[in-house]
Amino acid sequence: MNKITQSKELLSWYEAQGRDLPWRVKGGAHPNPYIVFVSEIMLQQTTVKTVIPYFKKFMKRFPDIESLAQASEEEVYKYWQGLGYYSRARSLHEAAKTIKEQGKFPQTREEVLKLKGIGNYTVSSFLALAFNKPETIIDGNVIRIITRLYHLTEPTEKIQNIIRQKAEELTDKESPADYASAIMDLGAIICTPKKPQCLLCPWQKYCQSKNKQDIEQIPNRTKIQRQEKYGSVYIIINSQKEIYIRKRKEKGLLSGLYEFPWKDEGKMFEKDSLCITDSGRQVTHNFSHFKLTLQIYNIQTEKNLTDGLFVPETSLKDYPISTLMKKVWQKYKANKKNIHTKI
Ligand code: ADE
Repeated sequence: MNKITQSKELLSWYEAQGRDLPWRVKGGAHPNPYIVFVSEIMLQQTTVKTVIPYFKKFMKRFPDIESLAQASEEEVYKYWQGLGYYSRARSLHEAAKTIKEQGKFPQTREEVLKLKGIGNYTVSSFLALAFNKPETIIDGNVIRIITRLYHLTEPTEKIQNIIRQKAEELTDKESPADYASAIMDLGAIICTPKKPQCLLCPWQKYCQSKNKQDIEQIPNRTKIQRQEKYGSVYIIINSQKEIYIRKRKEKGLLSGLYEFPWKDEGKMFEKDSLCITDSGRQVTHNFSHFKLTLQIYNIQTEKNLTDGLFVPETSLKDYPISTLMKKVWQKYKANKKNIHTKI
């Protein structure tokens, strides 16, 4: 059986057995992206059962992006009271104002990620549910389903790439909106953490953990010990205020992506040889086999460095960069005003 058949079987199950939820339509993308947007933000750290009454009241008072964008912050908070994680309310309000100004909802990953309060999970669920984009959702439900389906017993932290690859293979490219809802429902109704209902599962014939003793121990949430590495990363700026980036090799760690120069042991540049300033900030990132902490340095230079290129800040977004380097840039920008740069 191929993956297409398998995903269609899940879709048939969903059509018959999937939950009716107030923010949901079956049979394709939701016609109103605002409804998806609000519900996905509410569902970020809160259960479906808790969200339902809040969502209904919120929608009655703020039925569209205009009414939310025009409301006062106090009133938005009032409707959020009891849901917790109040920064979500502030972000949602900010995002509503941005969307209203832009005149329409963004439809690409890059644009959606610029909205306040949107991370990698929400961008995928929003694009799949609101615009039927072939995005793969990786949440707790999906991790549980995939690890059980293939009986992957290693710690999930160690096999994130395998889980993602398998989840992507199964994502239905014709009906990603319904598929996203279907896999969430499979995790919520059938493939539950305790006492999964294997005999009712539409994927039972594919599942390598069905009726196995250890099914409740999968996924394996053991935290892995990572080797710790330390190094330096350099934000190098020329007199036109352009920033230096270089492309990584096509093979190996973070291959093909652009980066600020960095080194995982010791320093790359001597402090005296260039105008270099310790930004006082560090970034830590977990790779699958090690944990890397980089000290950020700031360099002003007139030299023409040759193995990469200088780009204006506004063009940085046009180059694919790793999550690690995004973190470096965000940290650098957030603290820039505190950096005393020697020229
Ligand atoms: N969790 C996150 N998004 C959800 C959705 N749209 N439906 C049900 N549970 C969810």
